[in-house]
Amino acid sequence: MKDATARTTYLHDYRPPPFTIDSTELDFDLYETHAVVQARLQFRRNPDFGGVDEDMLILHGRELVLEELRLDDRVLEAADYVLEEESLRIPKLRSLAQDGSDRFTVYCRTRIEPQNNTALEGLYKSRKMFCTQCEAEGFRRITYYLDRPDVMSKFTTTVRAEREKYPVLLSNGNCIAEGECEDPARHWTTWEDPFPKPSYLFALVAGDLVSLDDRFTTSSGREVQLRIFVEPRDLDKCDHAMVSLKKAMRWDEEKYGREYDLDIFMIVAVDDFNMGAMENKGLNIFNTSCILANSATQTDWAFQRVEAVVAHEYFHNWSGNRVTCRDWFQLSLKEGFTVFRDSEFSADMNSRSVKRVQDVAFLRSVQFAEDSGPMAHAVQPDSYMEISNFYTVTIYEKGAEVVRMISNLLGPERFRAGTDLYFKRHDGQAVTIEEFVNAMEDASGVDLKQFRNWYRQSGTPVLEIDGFHDAERQRFELRVRQSCPPTPGQEIKVPFHIPLRMGLLDPAGREIPLRLQGEPAAVGKDRVLAVTQPVETFVFEDVAEPPVASLLRGFSAPVRLKYDYTPEDLLFLMSNDSDGFNRWNAGQELALMLMRELQEDFRGGRKLALPKILREAHRNILAEAVDAGAEADRAMFAELLRLPAESFLIEQADIADVEAIHAVREFLLDGLAESHRNLVADLFESIPATGAYRADAESIAARSLRNLALSALVRSGEKDWLELCLRQFEQANNMTDQLAALQILTHSRAGEGVYQAALAQFHEQWRGEPLVVDQWFSLQATRPHPGALAQVRELLRHPDFEIRNPNKVRAVIGAFCGQNHVNFHDASGSGYEFLGEQAMQLDAINPQIAARLITPLTRWRKFDSGRQQMMREQLSRIGDRDGVSRDVSEIVVKSVG
Ligand code: BES
Ligand code: ZN
Repeated sequence: MKDATARTTYLHDYRPPPFTIDSTELDFDLYETHAVVQARLQFRRNPDFGGVDEDMLILHGRELVLEELRLDDRVLEAADYVLEEESLRIPKLRSLAQDGSDRFTVYCRTRIEPQNNTALEGLYKSRKMFCTQCEAEGFRRITYYLDRPDVMSKFTTTVRAEREKYPVLLSNGNCIAEGECEDPARHWTTWEDPFPKPSYLFALVAGDLVSLDDRFTTSSGREVQLRIFVEPRDLDKCDHAMVSLKKAMRWDEEKYGREYDLDIFMIVAVDDFNMGAMENKGLNIFNTSCILANSATQTDWAFQRVEAVVAHEYFHNWSGNRVTCRDWFQLSLKEGFTVFRDSEFSADMNSRSVKRVQDVAFLRSVQFAEDSGPMAHAVQPDSYMEISNFYTVTIYEKGAEVVRMISNLLGPERFRAGTDLYFKRHDGQAVTIEEFVNAMEDASGVDLKQFRNWYRQSGTPVLEIDGFHDAERQRFELRVRQSCPPTPGQEIKVPFHIPLRMGLLDPAGREIPLRLQGEPAAVGKDRVLAVTQPVETFVFEDVAEPPVASLLRGFSAPVRLKYDYTPEDLLFLMSNDSDGFNRWNAGQELALMLMRELQEDFRGGRKLALPKILREAHRNILAEAVDAGAEADRAMFAELLRLPAESFLIEQADIADVEAIHAVREFLLDGLAESHRNLVADLFESIPATGAYRADAESIAARSLRNLALSALVRSGEKDWLELCLRQFEQANNMTDQLAALQILTHSRAGEGVYQAALAQFHEQWRGEPLVVDQWFSLQATRPHPGALAQVRELLRHPDFEIRNPNKVRAVIGAFCGQNHVNFHDASGSGYEFLGEQAMQLDAINPQIAARLITPLTRWRKFDSGRQQMMREQLSRIGDRDGVSRDVSEIVVKSVG
């Protein structure tokens, strides 16, 4: 392996910075061939440094051309400092600085080339606009700096550029002055951000942009100006984001008592962006895919994503910006907490149970996979090589689950007291996860000592539970065993504190009052057991008949639950459980169990048969959905009818047989569609087609259930339904219905004869809309049919494909490798080879994107030995490339090493 990874950063090496920067004055001159950055930094010795006074100043910097360096008023000569790949050192501060080096200023002028910056970190160009992305360590590509989150400084920024090309010049905070430059073709603006912030929250934008403007009055009566900046062609796609922003601002006031703190809040949309969006203080920068929403061009899914991402980045203003992270090991302090906040927001705006189902489905298929693979790490990791690789589903989604558990353990009032205390105590500070937990404990009096293991230990805990009914004593015993498999660097685990929410159902489907042994009386029908020991038993009294246990309600902890349910138990829970989440989960478990058996049949070459009990389960749901009509939570019915995703089936297998998984799933979809064609048709017809488009939760749910029904109907093979699908494709007045129809046509056997014409027509219709073209790419890249790889190779040569645009890369390469399981895992190894080739090419362009793209290869342990070997070969090939990035190298070393 090439040695790009020599540097590992450890949590236990953390030291406070020897110096802090009180003020940061930045000056940008933007040109087509380069940019000149001047920084004036006021340093001060950090009283909290501890240890011996440093006589050396070490600044971070990467790919900068240093043009001038001054310390106080003295111009430094080359002999006064040392320049290395990633740092600038000034060794003899005391002798160089004027006043004993306790306070000094550094002036530094650097030159960079934003137009050649394809890593999209630091200052870069996205199409015709300049923009920045500084988290986590991008600021050091702009100027030499103490680029670490515990150095918080007041920023003043001046931007100069040609007026004609860049009429809009933005940075964080308030615009305090603007004018014309000496060269009358150029102009400038100066921005001042009154809140001290770490460099990763710095942002700058220059472009030819238009804006949607609005206002918001905060709860204390302050007026805030809201502006969403986009390219002119996208101005008609900003309304939903603006509505979402105002909802999020109100929600954070009501639920957390958090008011916005500047006079202006701006969002800018950019085409080329590594991530979804970024919370820079007062100037959020968004991937167009997470901000634009118009019913003609975006699906309902995109509308909900926009609502969630706008809220997420806005919520960071408190959970991330006002209170920030001490170091990047604390990343989940802001990300896990903020994901929890945005998921609660989405739950309040839409259907709570559906949001929970979607979050858990994602966690279980993606985060569980990470947690059982070579990249497994704790919510608070203890080391990293490249921090960009640690923006993971574990930090985000598992981190959010851990905060959710705290919120459930404390209850709403005490949790709110905890967050109030946290924000008050640490406003303006850079803190640790430990300080968050301390605030929760201090405000609530709840002991979270053992609970802290959730932050330190990686791996998904396993709860093995057995139930025993003692008819004579009228008792029901739950014997609970917890364990956690070894993960890299953590062989042995200590027990977790696992909140296990549960209930017991009697044979008539009624909830049994729950009295634990030793309690004088029952304490409700739905309780949270604190599982804290490796093995323990909970005994319930007054249980006359054998109950069915409903366990881990609401997915009360991110664990794997093992309980010996019979298919009949699961069917029973599906119709009787009072917990909506567990009703859905029972359906998933039932399908999973039956699908495993069918996979065995498939492997044994036996004829597959549709299990009666699954047919019955689906008939019940369909009948209920038809009866319930418009009153029902149709989104929940859609979830109940969905079979477990292939990604989930792969994760749940010890060794996944992708062909069997795919074949069985397709077989069941066909069989269920065939058996229930009349009921499905009734369901379809009971839901009115979209009239005037609305993006509210109810209309979204109706479309999702109707389109699910349509896909089953087309599967059933009747010509009329295929024609109806074609008509919907041609006549739909919204992207959700149009794309759903196109997906059915391209992915189903029935669509074989017509899909190519439909794809061509769709491209013709939407070629001017890059985000729609991304959808068009993805649909083709995820076609499960043989020959998909050849098609994907064609797509890479399509004039609309751009390897430098992350959205395009994700739409084609990412979609094929991450979602088209049968084709990516083709026994020939062609899918793996394809990814190897693409990853090497991308690594030279954008290491962050390359590193993310190879994730599917790191899951090699899940597959048979032949595939394992081929996957590892590709990883090694990628890691051996001359000039391999630190990002990619870390992933390769950790997953094959
Ligand atoms: N701070 C992150 C964006 C980020 C991540 C910047 C990694 C640099 C490196 C932002 O708050 C975020 O988490 N964005 C998410 C979306 C969110 C809804 C979870 C993203 O970009 O995917
Ligand atoms: Zn975030």
